[in-house]
Amino acid sequence: MENLKQNLLESANQKLKEILENARNLVGLSENDFRVLADRKEILLSWTDELAEDFYQTLLSYPKTAKVFETVPVEKVKEKFKAWYRNLISGGGGEGFYRQQFFIGLVHIYRRIDNNVMIFMANNLKRNFLKKLFEHFEPDEAVYVFQAFSKLVDFVIALTVEGYIFTLYQALTDVAGLRPALVERMMKLKLEEIYNLFKREFLHPTG
Ligand code: HEM
Repeated sequence: MENLKQNLLESANQKLKEILENARNLVGLSENDFRVLADRKEILLSWTDELAEDFYQTLLSYPKTAKVFETVPVEKVKEKFKAWYRNLISGGGGEGFYRQQFFIGLVHIYRRIDNNVMIFMANNLKRNFLKKLFEHFEPDEAVYVFQAFSKLVDFVIALTVEGYIFTLYQALTDVAGLRPALVERMMKLKLEEIYNLFKREFLHPTG
């Protein structure tokens, strides 16, 4: 059991490092992105309530996403969301921030919120943020600030998506009591089978 826990934590740390490295190399995520936001925190923080209201209004007005709030009080979640936004704008990043984002991803996985819903809602938030930027800044600065915000929000969503796969994979290995190398081999064979089936019958359905 201790061994399993240790492996799980090590794999999670490894995954986090890997995603961070990808974000640094592919979109240039850096500590500067936090500075760009923090330098303008007075105005960006003044949008907290409005952005949160809009976010949860969208989720509550669609029955499929409203359902999750039958068991979790929306006001409680909204407060957590506002704390997250404040921390993103003025927290300054760092190791603790990255760990917290990975955990936030897992919270949504645990609540079975689909990845596509997370992606669409991140897009919803980014568009509202961009609209406000253009209302308050000159276009060049608006785009500059948006790029920093967009990178950081995408980073959180990337953690959620990867965390989903990570958690399912760990759960599968654990529940079935299989060795990771064996799961890897079985997956490879199954994926090949699925790939061939889709190539033949999904791209060009006959029925
Ligand atoms: C950009 C996308 C999103 C962000 C940044 C976000 C942010 C957060 C944060 C910071 C928390 C608190 C996590 C913690 O306990 O430490 C949270 C919890 C939660 N979120 Fe989200 N969220 C997003 C999308 C969604 C969506 C799309 C839904 C519903 C369809 C949702 C429903 C919830 C629920 C139900 C909780 C509470 C879970 C619990 O306490 O067990 N979130 N979210």
